[in-house]
Amino acid sequence: SVLEMEVEQIKKGSYDHFMQKEIHEQPHSLTTTMRGRLKDGGVLLGGLKEHLKTIRRCRRVVFIGCGTSYNAALAARTFVEELTGIPVTMEVASDLLDRQGPIYREDTAVFVSQSGETADTLLALDYALENGALCVGITNTVGSTLSRKTHCGVHINAGCEIGVASTKAYTSQIVAMAMMALAIGSDQISTQARRDAIISGLTSLPSCVSEVLKLDAEMKELAYSLIDSESLLVFGRGYNYATALEGALKVKEVALMHSEGMLAGEMKHGPLALVDENLPIIVIATHDACFSKQQSVIQQLLSRKGRLIVMCSKGDASAVCPNGSCRVIEVPGVADCLQPVINIIPLQLLAYHLTVLRGFDVDQPRNLAKSVTTQ
Ligand code: AGP
Repeated sequence: SVLEMEVEQIKKGSYDHFMQKEIHEQPHSLTTTMRGRLKDGGVLLGGLKEHLKTIRRCRRVVFIGCGTSYNAALAARTFVEELTGIPVTMEVASDLLDRQGPIYREDTAVFVSQSGETADTLLALDYALENGALCVGITNTVGSTLSRKTHCGVHINAGCEIGVASTKAYTSQIVAMAMMALAIGSDQISTQARRDAIISGLTSLPSCVSEVLKLDAEMKELAYSLIDSESLLVFGRGYNYATALEGALKVKEVALMHSEGMLAGEMKHGPLALVDENLPIIVIATHDACFSKQQSVIQQLLSRKGRLIVMCSKGDASAVCPNGSCRVIEVPGVADCLQPVINIIPLQLLAYHLTVLRGFDVDQPRNLAKSVTTQ
């Protein structure tokens, strides 16, 4: 109805689409995710407090989710392992159910879901409960089935997300899991300095996100150059393997363009055969322990005349791309484990602009629903 359409427009404010609004809202949504939780140099998560001791004693953490929520958990995996010392395994909810994979009483199963109503994730939750695991929920929806059925959890407080393509929930999920990892690891003296650095990184995150959002016009221009491409590869590794998967998921689901996120370390084991002058390839090469490996990946791709778009830390343009042979996206730097929060934003913007330029529906992509409540 006309009224419904007007309400929609009011909710979108000055933006054309919810996805666009939600991308630009991230400095604020991340602030609300952290509000009241970073205290006296430590982390306070009311919904986990009573269970921290049990989690610290568990044999492994199993992350379970679908789509973007799975990718957020993958981004969190490395720092959860690092800060807690507990082995972490990853499960796509439907695949865990297909395999009836082993889940034990000694496991902590962490379920990640924006809606808290995804059927595959909820069925995996029933399965983990039956097997006696401690079940933790990371969700954006207070009162959702996920938050009711789990033993404990963290609400990400990103605010209602309307666009089918998840954007602000992804970054808030990563931040919520960073706080969770800090809380679990808070009894370890050896990692105190590292935890302090991450906490100060969290504090500066909203302003870094505001800064990276200034790439909007540049990403629109990049989108313009990719309008007619048939495919887009995204190579990442380490902390930013998840960024590659999530960037590619955004491009395929809204811009309806084939796109694959790949582990850069796997490049020479197959994907390298695809490289030619036409196929656009995004390489994520921001500054962290994997940087020199990514530099050599770039060299190998350039020597095969690859059409490269390199995402690097501010000031690294000439280090990643010596003679201007590739397009560069320079992003602000934060603590390495939080860099995925910054790095996904230019890719969200790219997917958004690519969709608008290609003339597709941004907020209601073809064949998709916001929450997938059937198996
Ligand atoms: C995200 O852009 C997708 N629409 C989709 O992958 C989504 O993340 C997935 O269906 C899981 O949803 P949930 O977080 O609500 O469980």
